[in-house]
Amino acid sequence: MKVVAIVGSIRKESYNLKLAHFIQKRYQGKFTLEILNIRELPFFDEDIENNPPSAVTEFKRKVAGADAVLWVTPEYNGTIPGVLGNAIDWLSRVEVMFGKPSWIVGATPGFLGTVKAQLHLREILFSLSSPLLPGNEVYVGAVHQKFNDDGELIDEVTVKFFDSVVNNFLVWFNQQQRVNSK
Ligand code: FNR
Repeated sequence: MKVVAIVGSIRKESYNLKLAHFIQKRYQGKFTLEILNIRELPFFDEDIENNPPSAVTEFKRKVAGADAVLWVTPEYNGTIPGVLGNAIDWLSRVEVMFGKPSWIVGATPGFLGTVKAQLHLREILFSLSSPLLPGNEVYVGAVHQKFNDDGELIDEVTVKFFDSVVNNFLVWFNQQQRVNSK
């Protein structure tokens, strides 16, 4: 099973990127996770929508080829970061997200764990017709206290929680496949 991760932060020391790396490493026996690069995507522009630069075509190709998308996002000003909205705009008006399962997680040094950003992202995924893992909301608050200096997630409660959510994600994903093949 091939999953791509779209991380809503392009900073080098991003906690959300670290979270994506944690998921990639810890669950490598269950699925492969490719973390996509959204840094090189230009601003979405209808004037170049049908003839975009290669960073866009490559990004779309990778999403189209994935079995599922993992969204890993911070919250900016109570919503999703602009870079993430821009990446999503490049995925709209094409069929790449139609019917493709999604799963959202998010991390912030704040206490509310990206609740508002995730609520908004859910609405956006509805517009893209991407079915979302029900329940299993993953809000990683106080994230700066949960990674060590080597970028490893050291909060055991969070790690165990991820174990159960990943399990639920895989069960749900397989159910989706069965429904779609009927
Ligand atoms: C933030 N941050 C933030 N945090 C939060 O929980 N709710 C919010 O609304 C905001 N708003 C916000 C706006 C802007 C412009 C910045 C730069 C930051 C803090 C944010 O969660 C923090 O910087 C994270 O570390 C960003 O995620 P990465 O880059 O570590 O993945």
